[in-house]
Amino acid sequence: MKDAQFYYHIIRLMIKSNNGDTSVMIKNKTAWVLYYSNSGNTKNLAELATTVLVEKGWEVETTQLTDFEQMKKPGLVILGTPIHFWTIPHMAKQGIAKLPDLSNAVGFVFATFGNVFSSGVTYELAKALEKRGTTVLGGASLVCPHNFMSETGKRLGDIYPEFGKDQPDAKIREEYINAIKYIADKAEKGDITHFDINRLKSPNPFI
Ligand SMILES: Cc1cc2nc3c(=O)[nH]c(=O)nc-3n(C[C@H](O)[C@H](O)[C@H](O)COP(=O)(O)O)c2cc1C
Repeated sequence: MKDAQFYYHIIRLMIKSNNGDTSVMIKNKTAWVLYYSNSGNTKNLAELATTVLVEKGWEVETTQLTDFEQMKKPGLVILGTPIHFWTIPHMAKQGIAKLPDLSNAVGFVFATFGNVFSSGVTYELAKALEKRGTTVLGGASLVCPHNFMSETGKRLGDIYPEFGKDQPDAKIREEYINAIKYIADKAEKGDITHFDINRLKSPNPFI
């Protein structure tokens, strides 16, 4: 009888520890790729992340934050926005404010900017996900073509290298792909080591 009680206790402990446990994440290979984009830079990187995840066998829901609807709960969330005047664009903030509880998911955040000033947007995005219970494991700020329009009707970043022409280049794209793979691998293995999102405050984080 004593043995039976002992095993009952162990099983209860196992069930209890499973509640907030990483094994839930390993089984949940659904990812959300949420982005906000006006001229396509952030959308292209969101779609690149989607391709990488699909190739790794993830079921992926990719959507503009403004079109967000409730979907199957994810094990992985990727959130990306451009930087508008040193902060998250207003419309993106409104979309983020509507996000549901995202506990039991790991996260990766990224910001795109036109090489003027990156500020702490990546960190702000990480904070927004952590507020919903997501464990953020990394983030990146990526220089992209600045999308202010020039007099010729082209984006500044389609003309001037100093405004992000031809960025992100092949090397940065590869780093970005590797970062997405790294986060997905961690989610799959349940290797959810702590990541200090304060690291994302550095001017050009890439983790
Ligand atoms: C209103 C506005 C404000 C911007 N502010 C900044 C900024 O503060 N720093 C910067 O480097 N780029 C800035 N940019 C450039 C964009 O962040 C950059 O081009 C971004 O990649 C655009 O993403 P999208 O194509 O997904 O919309 C700004 C662009 C717009 C339209």
